[in-house]
Amino acid sequence: MEKLVIRGGKPLVGEVSVSGAKNAAVAILPATILAGGKCVIENLPDISDVAASVQILHEMGAQVRMLNRSTLEIDTSHMLTTVAPEELSRRMRASYYFLGALLGQYGEGSVSMPGGCDLGPRPIDQHLKAFAALGASYEVDRGMIHVSSEKLSGEHVFFDTVSVGATINAMLAAVQAEGVTVLENVAKEPHIVDVANFLNTMGADVRGAGTDVIKIRGGQPLHGCTYSIIPDQIEAGSYMVAAVITHGNLLIKNVIPKHLEPITAKLEQAGATIDEYDDAVRVCCVGEIEPLNVKTMPHPGFPTDMQPLMGVLLSVAKGTSIIRESIWDNRFRYVDELLRMGANIQVDGRTAVIEGVSRLKAAPVRAMDLRAGAALVVAALAAEGVSEIDDIQYIERGYEDLVGKLRAVGADIKKVEKPERVLSNAI
Ligand code: EPU
Repeated sequence: MEKLVIRGGKPLVGEVSVSGAKNAAVAILPATILAGGKCVIENLPDISDVAASVQILHEMGAQVRMLNRSTLEIDTSHMLTTVAPEELSRRMRASYYFLGALLGQYGEGSVSMPGGCDLGPRPIDQHLKAFAALGASYEVDRGMIHVSSEKLSGEHVFFDTVSVGATINAMLAAVQAEGVTVLENVAKEPHIVDVANFLNTMGADVRGAGTDVIKIRGGQPLHGCTYSIIPDQIEAGSYMVAAVITHGNLLIKNVIPKHLEPITAKLEQAGATIDEYDDAVRVCCVGEIEPLNVKTMPHPGFPTDMQPLMGVLLSVAKGTSIIRESIWDNRFRYVDELLRMGANIQVDGRTAVIEGVSRLKAAPVRAMDLRAGAALVVAALAAEGVSEIDDIQYIERGYEDLVGKLRAVGADIKKVEKPERVLSNAI
């Protein structure tokens, strides 16, 4: 087991390059099944969730070849099974995208009921509602979910709640449903548009991604293609917050500034100076951090995945801030850890009231989930003294080479092996 050791208090200065978007990659990899041929996927982030998706494809019969560090050639011409390996698919929430892709391509598919970070109840009723509307049936048996259909037909689906996963899964199945599918009340995140662009590059006809209504003319013959994944909005936002809280100056490269707007707007309000270039942003902060009110919302609102990072930033603002979490029940799990670092935060349900303190102090803390972990890294970068962060496997699900990237801009951070626990009564 490994942990991070971080000596805080150093401003981050220099350049950092953002990797491909995790939440696009974990959908595009299963979507290669729909090609029934060779796809070359570029700008894949080197993170454990991507490794797990690739392993699932490989175990199901896809031929996978690494062309360079961030590019894979995936040949799905000869898949051996429509059942995703149970253990691997249970580990990762996004394995549910195999359902949509397998249903579209083969008319059936099975995955383990999805796991992933514990952010509270994470139902998939809207995914299943879309599959059922297209003509599929489903059943859960011994922890596996099976979907199947004789024939998929285009339909009108109105989602009850705005869901990233259900929107993408419906698109994956609908590209092979005969006729026109209209998806309403869909999610509009940048990775929805990225997946739609990937499907279109394979020959699909998906229109309207990025708006509230997506229209899909299904049944087009799909083929392999070369596709480059968009930069990760949340990784970029995490470095933006790290620059602000350490009063540093970072040029964050390989980003799409438009995708960062909800984050940029809040950070500017908090006192940061942000310059936008074609594919980079420069973030610095010299003055004090101003308190803010933040409410998480589906895109283009403030992203829930940035909420823990924003909570850390506001814990050192000069005044009282309020954060309202409107997506997940359980996204304040970083707060108890942050209290150990001297923060002053009260959580009531989905609302946190944050009284800014002048300085965070180092402490041993635990990453409770991916973004909570990233938030604690950022807290430790700003804190006085040496912090230790445990359970970093969560962070490695979504941040490529976090230690290397932070060290290159002046952070004092290292990954160390944890000594085996010695039982107190061992002889
Ligand atoms: N929901 C339902 N029924 C469904 C699906 C969702 O009620 O069938 C509810 C959820 O309980 C939640 C809300 O709808 O309250 C939004 O959930 P959504 O389906 O949009 O989330 P997701 O697809 O499971 C993705 C990201 C999350 C991110 C959310 C919201 C992936 C693999 N995960 O999850 O990312 O928080 O969208 O933007 O794309 C992360 O990267 O740290 C992460 C957790």
